[in-house]
Amino acid sequence: MDKPEEAHRGTALTDRERELIETGSLTDGAIRDQHFEFFRALRKGAPIFYDAKLGSWLVTRNEDIWAIQSDPVTFSVELGYHDFQARGMQDEFREILRRDGGGYFPDAIMSDPPYHTRIRKLMELAFTAHRVKELEPRIRDVVVELLDKVSARAECDAVRDIAIPLTIRVIVEQLGLDHGIEEKISRWSVAMTAQIGGMQSREDMLENARQICELQNYLIGKMRDREKAPREDMISDIVHAKVHDEHGQTMTLKFEEAASLIRAMLIAGNDTTATAISNLFLLLATQPQIVKMLDDAVDDERALNRFVEELLRMEPPTRALSRATIREVEVNGVTLPKGAHLLLAYGSGNDDETVFPNPRDFDPTRTNFAKHVTFGGGPHKCIGLALARMEIKVIAREIARHFRNIRLTIPAEDITYLPTIATRTIEHLPITFDRRTG
Ligand code: HEM
Repeated sequence: MDKPEEAHRGTALTDRERELIETGSLTDGAIRDQHFEFFRALRKGAPIFYDAKLGSWLVTRNEDIWAIQSDPVTFSVELGYHDFQARGMQDEFREILRRDGGGYFPDAIMSDPPYHTRIRKLMELAFTAHRVKELEPRIRDVVVELLDKVSARAECDAVRDIAIPLTIRVIVEQLGLDHGIEEKISRWSVAMTAQIGGMQSREDMLENARQICELQNYLIGKMRDREKAPREDMISDIVHAKVHDEHGQTMTLKFEEAASLIRAMLIAGNDTTATAISNLFLLLATQPQIVKMLDDAVDDERALNRFVEELLRMEPPTRALSRATIREVEVNGVTLPKGAHLLLAYGSGNDDETVFPNPRDFDPTRTNFAKHVTFGGGPHKCIGLALARMEIKVIAREIARHFRNIRLTIPAEDITYLPTIATRTIEHLPITFDRRTG
């Protein structure tokens, strides 16, 4: 017999679903902010959907996302990202970076095999279990310090006062950057993320390019320092990265490759992890049963891991990322032309009711977390996932120990999200809470 969710797929489209399929677009802010209904209609009636206003195909079912991300030969990351980056303004953007930013450094990791395989091997040297483990106690200290700081006020903006400062401090520790540049990192991060957000005007692009020049000049300085005097940090790992290929040949990174990887590390884990933490606060402030689940899990490592995984499944920070077809290809009955731009809609894949029953319910007892696509999958699967999971686990545990009665101070409908396709990022989350004693 059909599961109820599959039965939903088998039923005729409702008028509302038809309307969404006929007129909906991710360029529409209201649809983007609460994309659940739109994606549900697409999964049911148009799983491979051409969003004409965006000029991209949205891939919305879990199994199709997995198929595409597992086939880097047909679905190119390199073309997908380059096509989407600074869309329509690429030449000008690159020229500014060459003129004022020390160079235009294409994202070496956003590439295709076999080149990607070499770069990934070298980049992994900076993400050893040892590096991640070494960061854990320092992350816990930063978390406790931030929570203590806001505790006295009994209210804060969970995004601006906790999530963003925490992830930025972790990046400063991880890469070995200077304390005191946290505010700049936040600006640089927004400017970089906007390049794959698909929503920037020319004025935005010019300002963002200026920020990225500043970022690159800063990082180039740090790289030059580490070339001469390596330290115990990830910039040194990358600058001095060396591995042997299967023929015994030594592989190292060119300067522009290393620069692009360090830039990627600074950005890729920043907004994403901060968003996961903001989402955690939102759930705790609005769903009391989730507070109880966290309280029950807090002293049980495995239960806490499952709690974090369900948070990541239910509210994936990354909404949709790019691919491009390198030849005409059929996906789920739809023929995509060569050069088609695709967006893998992770936000939809994790809500696929045929894989995750009752997807909008928070259920840490699910047994198939391996199927969620929050960190992508295949050769480009997130390289920082162990660090991200650890960071979220540490803060979840400390929130449970420090805070109770977390409440929003605005109606949930008034929460706003950044205007970008790539992520679903809460802008502000004003909350009140009580300090837990004893
Ligand atoms: C909750 C936090 C995070 C989320 C949701 C996330 C999500 C993702 C996703 C979906 C991809 C796949 C991209 C694709 O296939 O096109 C990815 C790749 C990547 N992530 Fe993360 N990420 C997170 C944290 C981090 C952190 C902390 C770092 C590093 C410090 C990081 C660095 C990267 C890099 C470098 C890649 C590219 C890997 C490759 O192409 O081989 N991410 N991430």
